[in-house]
Parts: sequence; C-alpha cells; structure tokens
Amino acid sequence: MRVDLHGLVLAYDSAGSGRPLLLIHGYPLSRRLWQPQLDELGDAAWLIAPDLRGHGESNSAPPPYSMELLADDCLELLDALNASEPAVVAGLSMGGYVALALYRKYPERVAGLILAATRAGADSPEGRANRAKSAVLAQEKGPAAIAEAMLPKMLAPHTHQANPSLAERVRHMMAGTSVEGLVGDLQGMAARPDASALLDQINVPVLVIHGLEDQLIPPSEAEAMNLRLKRGRLQLIPGAGHLVNMEQPAEFNAQVRTYLDAL
Ligand code: MLT
Repeated sequence: MRVDLHGLVLAYDSAGSGRPLLLIHGYPLSRRLWQPQLDELGDAAWLIAPDLRGHGESNSAPPPYSMELLADDCLELLDALNASEPAVVAGLSMGGYVALALYRKYPERVAGLILAATRAGADSPEGRANRAKSAVLAQEKGPAAIAEAMLPKMLAPHTHQANPSLAERVRHMMAGTSVEGLVGDLQGMAARPDASALLDQINVPVLVIHGLEDQLIPPSEAEAMNLRLKRGRLQLIPGAGHLVNMEQPAEFNAQVRTYLDAL
C-alpha cells in the first residue's frame, strides 16, 4: 500500500487490528525486515510497517535524513491512517534511533517501545568517519557494494550457514535501497544526538531485545539501556545476530506477544 504525505510517497504494509504497532526498519533495509512479524502478529495488534524515505518502494528525497525527520514521516503515516490511539513503537537498529527520536518529540503518541538491536548513544568520532567512508562507497559503487560490505555482519555466523536463503533475502533488501537513502541515513545517523539521558525519562514499558551474537551492536548496549529504564525488560536471544527478529522469529514474536499482553 502507498500513501502520499505532502508529496512524499511512502509504501507500507498493514496487518491485523487493535492497538497500532509501528515497525521501523533499520539501515539499509526495508519493511520486508518485518515479514515474520507481519505474518504472525496480526491477532495481537495493528501492525504498520513503512519503508522509510529512500528505502524499499518509498520515494527518496535528498539527504540528510535526521532521525527526527524519519520520526516525523512515521507520525504522518500514523495520522494518514487515522491511527490516533497511542502506538507501540518498535525499531530495529537505526529504527530504534528513530523510535527514540519519535518518543522525544511526541511522547503522548507512544504507549510503549520495543528497542531491538539498537543503542542509545551517539556515534564516536571514528564511527562518524566510517559513515563518511560508507557514503563515498555508496555514491561511487552503489547499493550493491554496501550490501556486500554489510552482509557478513548483519547475521550471526551460524545463520549464514544454516539459512543461506535468508542471507540472500537480506542482501536483496539492502541492494534495493537508493543511493539517496543510504547517504541520507548515514548523514542522519552520524548527526544524531545521544539519547542516553532520554532513557531516564521514558515512562512507558520498554522491551529491549537483542541477539546475543550481534556483530554490529554488542548486547552490552542493550544491557546498558535497560539499566537506565524505569520500566524496561531485557531479552537477550541466543542464536541470533543483528537481525534478531528474522533470525529467531518464533522467539522474537513470543517476546513481543508477552510484552503486548502486559501493556
Ligand atoms: C542498522 O542496522 O540500522 C545500522 O547498522 C545501525 C548503525 O549503523 O548504527
């Protein structure tokens, strides 16, 4: 499905009914990330999964894409769908940065947060330098080169061996991101503020969920976030790398269900 948000056309999937559960994908992915949740959790919530600008089947726009801008796009999508009830906002990795930006700006619209494979801190100077190098690679060699460089670390080593078709799907998803989308995200992530102090102020229930074999963002980041949250619950999932919701979908979905039931 598609919606026109004042000239920016976003593609999204919608499944199920009830409380809105916004599913925000990471970099350099698309709403296809959330297929295992869209397939299974429609009886527990109204799942809404957009392709962020520059990703998947959505339009792109010139960089940079601040996390706040991406959060604004998500909120406009909720408004366009008349999803006015406070939503559970789930984000994986960069999607988690966007979820925190959305909470910072619109806390009254958030009933709960699911922070998957993400972190609260800002980029280090070295991290920012690596973003700039990735942006050059994206511009010079295109999305396929970014996909090639990132694929090994997106999944746990065991997943690559046991589930090569998943690895190919992930490669395809990444290679489908536009160059503007890649550069927009990279610049936006490099400039994002540290959200650690925001964690102290979050007063909705938060599920912090992370693969124990995440090679991109270590599980210690999830532990550190959980320590600061008043109403946090930490779930570390064995047998999963960065894409915890795809690598261990049954376990991930069970945790989300338990979380939603308790809201
Ligand atoms: C993501 O998966 O969204 C990114 O790896 C996050 C990041 O680069 O910080």
